Amino acid sequence: MPLFDCISLSEKHAVVFDIGTRFTKFGFAGEPSPRCIIPSEVKCAESGKIRPIHSYKNESDLYALLVDFIHLLYFKHALVSPKDRRVVIVESLLCPTIFRDTLAKVLFRHFEVSSILYVPSHLVSLSTLGISTGLIIDIGYQEAILIPVYEGVPVLSSWQAQPLAALAVHRRLKDDLVEYYKNIEKESGEKHEGNKISDNIVDLPDSVIEDIRVRGCFVTNRERAQRFALADKTDLSDKTDSSDKIKDVPDLVYRIGGKRIITIPGKIRESCHEVFFEYDNDYLSLPNMILDAIISCSVDMRKPLAANIVLTGGTSMTHGLKYRLLQELKHLINTERYKEKFKFDTFKFHKMITKENYGSWLGGAIFGATDVMMVRSLTKEAYLGFKCVPDWSSLIHNRSNKEKSQQQHTL
Ligand SMILES: Nc1ncnc2c1ncn2[C@@H]1O[C@H](COP(=O)(O)OP(=O)(O)OP(=O)(O)O)[C@@H](O)[C@H]1O
Ligand SMILES: [Mg+2]
Repeated sequence: MPLFDCISLSEKHAVVFDIGTRFTKFGFAGEPSPRCIIPSEVKCAESGKIRPIHSYKNESDLYALLVDFIHLLYFKHALVSPKDRRVVIVESLLCPTIFRDTLAKVLFRHFEVSSILYVPSHLVSLSTLGISTGLIIDIGYQEAILIPVYEGVPVLSSWQAQPLAALAVHRRLKDDLVEYYKNIEKESGEKHEGNKISDNIVDLPDSVIEDIRVRGCFVTNRERAQRFALADKTDLSDKTDSSDKIKDVPDLVYRIGGKRIITIPGKIRESCHEVFFEYDNDYLSLPNMILDAIISCSVDMRKPLAANIVLTGGTSMTHGLKYRLLQELKHLINTERYKEKFKFDTFKFHKMITKENYGSWLGGAIFGATDVMMVRSLTKEAYLGFKCVPDWSSLIHNRSNKEKSQQQHTL
């Protein structure tokens, strides 16, 4: 008996797409990592400008962007013919309908693929760990999206999403740097208009700020964050003696394009991620999202979910994030809002078996190599019959066989 009897040897391996807001992961089913991770953007043929896929204005604009982008993936990066292989698409359950419909239209009508399997990103990330219950938080580029999964079923009533991901940190880092250099310029009384470092920082390309954030910044621990917040409020750093002063981490000397040099102060390096942990009356921080999601699940689900937290998405790779989240969760469950509702204090984080930024892609690659591919895929014939992609949220596509036959009788 063959070892993997679910993988048909005669059929070519399916291609797996995970089209994120910032990066697209693309590769083949059954492989342990994507063949390429490229920015989700294309060069506009008319204007020559780079356009992110998610900056579409309407359906026809998105169609044109996707045609160019998928052409690039197949013919520049993977070098395979689209007609030969089935497709797996890893998508968020909150993906806009216009996006999934247009993507299907591009793949079926323009590239003539034979079938598409849609897999929910949170559910398949969990399957890479071999567990069926967990609280999955995808911290990618634009949003942190949290969906609890209990015994293999997503608990959709408890989903949470906040704009607390790479983009929020990116903006905070840029603002902090501009403010820092403006203060220096004010203090030194610099009058050279048009040559200010603060203006140069405003003009820095996003890729440079991203590089500074990824390679030079980290999440600090709760004690230091609190001391910084206190020092900011009372201006403690100026008034106290040196023993009470917070020792800053070293500044980062960053070279831009081989010529220009800017200094990133240690305090900014460790404080730009505080945007995830700011508490206000709306309770919109990252730890609040986790606790609110757990509370909104039924009582018997809470403890297993808290003991199986899974962080995926590129931003969850930031140094210190897991440790800080754990500290904040332990602190928050003793506050007025949560103390009555939490009768336990054990929170555990899983370690992904891959790099977190392609954890959900790997889940898609695993499913694409099993017989789920044959059973659950949307075939070209079915798509042309429905004229749309069947949607889990639509009752028309989610009726039982009995209901369908009843309707056929009445017709
Ligand atoms: N080692 C790292 N440390 C910190 N951040 C990182 C690291 N590697 C990647 N990132 C950041 O992760 C972000 C991209 O993550 P990911 O690929 O999960 O996003 P996405 O899938 O495109 O977005 P979304 O899931 O929101 O649609 C980028 O902004 C990148 O800077
Ligand atoms: Mg993503």
